[in-house]
Amino acid sequence: MSASAHNHLRLGVNIDHVATIRNARGGDHPDPVKAAMAAQAAGADGITAHLREDRRHIRDDDITRLMDRLNVPLNLEMAATEEMVEIALRHRPHAACIVPERRAERTTEGGLDAAGQFDALQPIVARLSDAGIRVSLFIAPEPAQIDAAIRLGAPVVELHTGRYAELSGAERGAELGLLAEMAALAARNGIEPHAGHGLTYDNVTAIAAIPQLCELNIGHFLIGEAVFDGLADAIARMRGMMDVAR
Ligand code: PXP
Repeated sequence: MSASAHNHLRLGVNIDHVATIRNARGGDHPDPVKAAMAAQAAGADGITAHLREDRRHIRDDDITRLMDRLNVPLNLEMAATEEMVEIALRHRPHAACIVPERRAERTTEGGLDAAGQFDALQPIVARLSDAGIRVSLFIAPEPAQIDAAIRLGAPVVELHTGRYAELSGAERGAELGLLAEMAALAARNGIEPHAGHGLTYDNVTAIAAIPQLCELNIGHFLIGEAVFDGLADAIARMRGMMDVAR
């Protein structure tokens, strides 16, 4: 394997907001599954979709069609509820990323409160893992959350980059340092670190340069840029920036 292949940072493309546009009119257009196929053809290493409890963007039938048609792995984002666990067990996607939906499930930074929700998460992580689904926890970059992920036996954490994306100047620098530290802490403990939320052409480089990160999940910005440049060009440009950062 060449050094560059070894360093390959995977890009997961989140297609939720194609469904947001579709649902604004209640019909079938634009189809998020068509967008997923286009993203796959443009070099996405995986597709991410969040089936929310309120079905505000992705619908159940989208997950069925994604599972049928995709060749790249599907990362199903889901709340830690019985309904969502049953859906995940039925479809058996490559990965399931557990995300908070209600306020009580979140940290102040907006990640899943894996430490506070430990007892509720433990059986869910176990059931998904037993079914061969790679469980990821979407957490704020905090030592207590990494510690909870270790104790839960999660193979993957996705570090929430939303705060980093919102901050500027020295505060952004400090948050970047924390993200780098938590990626290293996860990796030292055998957990594969991913990152995502709010990433754009302007802020992706420093995140992509964190050497332990294996995957970035990017949605809203890419779907927005697709309006101007097309989805394939937006993905190619993001991919190029990620590669240069490594
Ligand atoms: N990762 C997770 C866990 C998410 O929930 C989301 C979207 O909400 C993303 C990544 C992508 O974030 P964005 O759409 O801001 O790129």
